[in-house]
Amino acid sequence: MSKLKVLVTGASGQLGSDLVDELLMRSHDVVALSRSQLDITNCGAVAAAIREHRPSVFINCAAMVNVDACELDVEAAIKVNALAVWHIAVLCSKAKVKLVQISTDYVFDGEKNSPYTEADVPNPINVYGLTKFFGEMFVRNYCDEHLIVRTAGLYGIRGSRSKGGNFVEFVIGAALKNEPLRLVTDMVTSPTFTRDLASKLCELVEAEAHGIVHVVNSGQCSWHEFGSRALSLMGLDVQVIPIVSDELDRPARRPKYTPLVSIRLDDFGVEPLRDWREALHDYLCIRGLLKQ
Ligand SMILES: NC(=O)c1ccc[n+]([C@@H]2O[C@H](COP(=O)([O-])OP(=O)(O)OC[C@H]3O[C@@H](n4cnc5c(N)ncnc54)[C@H](OP(=O)(O)O)[C@@H]3O)[C@@H](O)[C@H]2O)c1
Repeated sequence: MSKLKVLVTGASGQLGSDLVDELLMRSHDVVALSRSQLDITNCGAVAAAIREHRPSVFINCAAMVNVDACELDVEAAIKVNALAVWHIAVLCSKAKVKLVQISTDYVFDGEKNSPYTEADVPNPINVYGLTKFFGEMFVRNYCDEHLIVRTAGLYGIRGSRSKGGNFVEFVIGAALKNEPLRLVTDMVTSPTFTRDLASKLCELVEAEAHGIVHVVNSGQCSWHEFGSRALSLMGLDVQVIPIVSDELDRPARRPKYTPLVSIRLDDFGVEPLRDWREALHDYLCIRGLLKQ
């Protein structure tokens, strides 16, 4: 595989930071830009970054990811998740740069009763999902050379600043403080460790994958099952109260069932990711919370 020059936006996020580490480990030439170094809503700055660094691949990990914040500030969500992505797509197309856009399971309405494949039709039900779907459409229609990777339920070592960390840390933190834990049983996802996703993203880019591809840790579970699993791996005997999502009274509606599966990874000779339970175990070991 020849060395690529890759520009990564949102490089200090939980996925962005793992992706930068993985690209460097694979000896690619990386330009890692955090929000303070490149605000993707500043079209002039994005153009200047492409001119200055001349990447062969542009991976956009920057996004407004807090689902309730998107619902409460629609304009900001449109600017970051859709308009900025349109500008990036136009600029990448002009400069003949391949664009890799990260998207989400929340483009689906959650009404299906088996995992969503790349052939399923999106029908977002909240502002976050809608704006991410617009982002996808802009990439597809304005930049021929593209890869859209949809993923779900991310947790990573650095956590997401705008979400106040990640779900696993939230659950463990609450249990250690003896705080009551109420987790939803009626929302099912494919929890995905960002380190696993980062390595699969690199494989896909190296394999010159294109179009839409779903990448998640294999399997599915409710947030209740996911949190309970983390606690039982840690040996924390804490009661987790099962609740339904309506009890949470949050600003944004959430799709109830959004596990993903890929029917396209095979086209590029790429294996699916390992099971979510194995990835969670590994995450806890890497965090130093469990012995291998
Ligand atoms: N988290 C999930 O469960 C999940 C699920 C499915 C798909 N995804 C997608 O995966 C991608 C990565 O998400 P993540 O979980 O790694 O979230 P994250 O940790 O919050 O990372 C997003 C990054 O984008 C940055 N950012 C926000 N607005 C920006 C702007 N205007 N210009 C430049 N950077 C900006 C954030 O900076 P600040 O922290 O300073 O705001 C943050 O570093 C996103 O595309 C997201 O939609 C996430």
